[in-house]
Amino acid sequence: MKDSPRKRLPTAQSIAQWCKASLSSEKHLLVKSISSTTRFKVADKPWGGVFREATDRRVERFTESISFDRRLAEQDITGSKAHARMLARVGLISEEECLQITQGLEEIGREIAEGRFPFRVELEDIHMHVERALIERIGDVGRKLHTARSRNDQVATDMRLWIREAIDDLLASLRRLQAAFVGRCDRDGDCILPGYTHLQRAQPILAAHYWLAYCEKFERDRQRLVDCRSRVNLCPLGSAALAGTSLPVDRHAVAEALDFAAPTANSLDSVSDRDFVAEFLFCLSLIAVHLSHWAEEWILWSTCEFNFLRLPQGFCTGSSIMPQKINPDVLELIRGKAARVIGSLQQILVLLKGLPLAYNRDLQEDKLPVFESFDTVRDSLELAAPLVTQTEINRAAVQERLDRGYLDATTLMEYLILRGIPQRSAHEAVGRLVLAAMDRNCRLVDLPLAIFQEVVTTLDESVREVLGPESAVRRMRSFGSTAPEAVRQQIEAWKRRLESETL
Ligand code: ARG
Repeated sequence: MKDSPRKRLPTAQSIAQWCKASLSSEKHLLVKSISSTTRFKVADKPWGGVFREATDRRVERFTESISFDRRLAEQDITGSKAHARMLARVGLISEEECLQITQGLEEIGREIAEGRFPFRVELEDIHMHVERALIERIGDVGRKLHTARSRNDQVATDMRLWIREAIDDLLASLRRLQAAFVGRCDRDGDCILPGYTHLQRAQPILAAHYWLAYCEKFERDRQRLVDCRSRVNLCPLGSAALAGTSLPVDRHAVAEALDFAAPTANSLDSVSDRDFVAEFLFCLSLIAVHLSHWAEEWILWSTCEFNFLRLPQGFCTGSSIMPQKINPDVLELIRGKAARVIGSLQQILVLLKGLPLAYNRDLQEDKLPVFESFDTVRDSLELAAPLVTQTEINRAAVQERLDRGYLDATTLMEYLILRGIPQRSAHEAVGRLVLAAMDRNCRLVDLPLAIFQEVVTTLDESVREVLGPESAVRRMRSFGSTAPEAVRQQIEAWKRRLESETL
């Protein structure tokens, strides 16, 4: 193999040049002369000083993260600008240098945003790309930016900034979905639906009660994200590689400039900690699980067999062979894509379980699951909201089914309890009445009084008033139940909550 200049040791001549340069007044020029005049600069890497051999091309391809961590560009530049301002404040760089760095970074940011920035696999990751581009633009001043910083604290900061924004986006998406559910209440909240347990008919519920059940689930998802955000919102910058830095940095100032609540407390922990990533993925997983079981329910409810819902056609697709098909593909994919999100949580937990302190390159693998899961959940939420709004309840089909399944049996049992019959006896009595009705293939309300009295002697015709799904709903008393008044109060509370926030 031909010997490349990169592989040669520094020559006597180059060292002499370096020594000469070291006498020059400008310190950064001296550093420049090391890298530009000696011959041990390998593979053009920021870390190349100690290397004698160039990086194998296959290794470059294997270790790069620029193909995905370019999504951190904005955060990386924001973090670097705050870092530069701090360096100027503590006197590690001059105000003029800080200005040059800031302007250079902003230009790079614009180029990246406009898709004009050249990404190269040899430069590994977004941090090295931005730094290299800065040096190309502003020369040696750019070489000062990485003072008192390592990529280890830099990437941890970028991830925290990115996830913090992602959380804010998700909070808004969840609100829009909740608003879609609440919006249904005025339209068809009064409709009575059969409620299920074990997917068997159980008790009647108001549609509004059903809509708001999902609002509650997504509200807990929001609270979990808010809670997660408080642990995301700490600044690792200045932890440097793992031990901190001997340079006089002001970590509190950087934290404040980046709007973090505080700097992280322990440098060793800071560069290795990805708990916040795992927590974020758990939050996403639970949102995906909620979306998935909602989707499953609506897939069922929109079948011919149920026929409770008419899905908007814009959210369905057809079959290439069966001309009659209108399939609920969006719902199916919301259900199906939840698997990716749950998988990504598993992925991060397994990634972390074997890592010794502090930074390990394995941590680079945290990004794809985060980006992919966020995209999946955000897109699912953004499709779920219009689906909720545009789907119609097939009132006639629902109404027709309410008569089946003895949805009022529990109400009758509670009526008997109110008349002094012990619960176990009341349960058994109603069981026998249901059996009698099944034998006759009729509703409870259709049983002759003689049958009621055979089972409970004290019953009279007024028992019929407690029967039927409307009565079952109306008779509810407990806080949080499907009683119309309780539900009305909840709708009002939800409307107030949503109005107090801009969506
Ligand atoms: N691309 C790396 C990552 O995402 C950045 C940190 C690299 N640090 C290092 N010491 N090699 O984790």
